[in-house]
Amino acid sequence: MNALTDIVRALSAGASADSLPTSLFGLPDQAPHERVLLAADPQTGLKAILAVHSTARGPAFGGCRFWSYDNELAALNDALRLSQGMSLKNALAQLPFGGGKAVIIKPAGSFDRPALFAAFGRAVQSLDGAYITAEDVGTTTADMLGMQAHTRFVSGIPREGAFGGDPSPKTAYGVFVSIDEGVKRVLGRQSLDGVRVALQGLGAVGWHLAEFLHKAGAQLVVADVNAEKVQRAQAELGATAVGVNEILAVQADVLAPCALGAVLNGSSIPAIQAKLIAGAANNQLATVADGDALQARGITYLPDYLVNAGGIISVAREYRNEGEESQVMAEVGQIRGRVAELLERVRIGGLTPAREADTWARSLLVKPAA
Ligand code: NAI
Repeated sequence: MNALTDIVRALSAGASADSLPTSLFGLPDQAPHERVLLAADPQTGLKAILAVHSTARGPAFGGCRFWSYDNELAALNDALRLSQGMSLKNALAQLPFGGGKAVIIKPAGSFDRPALFAAFGRAVQSLDGAYITAEDVGTTTADMLGMQAHTRFVSGIPREGAFGGDPSPKTAYGVFVSIDEGVKRVLGRQSLDGVRVALQGLGAVGWHLAEFLHKAGAQLVVADVNAEKVQRAQAELGATAVGVNEILAVQADVLAPCALGAVLNGSSIPAIQAKLIAGAANNQLATVADGDALQARGITYLPDYLVNAGGIISVAREYRNEGEESQVMAEVGQIRGRVAELLERVRIGGLTPAREADTWARSLLVKPAA
């Protein structure tokens, strides 16, 4: 039994505590977290998990996901995996923040969205600054705005005349510069002109990424469950459409997963044709071993938490009220240099990019020098 969720499952099935592991904090596939808050508010239907993985670099900063989960344990697993990823992401991005993440389980029936997010805001406030929230999948700038009355530990809020708000364009820009750098260093191409990019997901990030790539001359092959978005990409960006079950295996130079996690797994990897993978989706590798499998097939995977840090860089600057739009873009642009450094570390060290990035990020999980 390896995961906290296995233990909860066994307990709910009636297992005696004697048959279960005696430590919850050292479970092999359970990254130890500083704090995990299970927040429920029966009046609004709120069921949320706020996971603080590490505050070694500063308050834990990471978005809030609003999602329908198969069950509550799946939500807990998601929160724990994502919050650990935020620690690594914030460390590599050299932000003075630790890692955390929240998930709100989408209620099955009808619900009052502002009231639900108000209750979530109160839960965030109860952590007294150990966790700062922002947008993630399923949440909007309006949700963040509404929460402001209940917590000051929230970012990603549009302010007139200032940068901030929706972080997706910044995330997309970071992924774009990563692809551009990867194409030069891994594929040996001088520019993105004519490079074929398979893009999974034309959502908030995927769409902006598609625009950046199109402007740079890349040929787009796209898939989304939403047919309207696909048609728009065909009409406005000259994209070729393929089915959602085909996109990962399509003939392309670059694969950019911008929809779901765990898409790089035992069944998808053998069919991938792209030689470079870089996309926005969090937790793209189903397991660490899947990173090894990609390497064995000669595919370079640029770790998601390295390339998709543009959004957190933006909301972190907004939260600190530091600088202006051009400085945010310049800071996001620095992801390019980190991609170059990672590929150099891989060349020298011989590990996969996923393993090198993990070692590099963990070495930075300490309080930054003032
Ligand atoms: P989104 O919800 O706006 O977009 C996701 C898109 O993927 C939607 O258009 C959806 O229809 C599509 N999709 C869903 N299932 C699909 C499937 N099976 N095949 C193809 N398309 C599918 O989300 P957003 O904000 O664009 O985020 C995308 C990914 O990037 C997520 O994994 C998110 O966690 C991650 N991310 C987002 C950041 C941001 O700034 N929004 C920051 C860092 C990571």
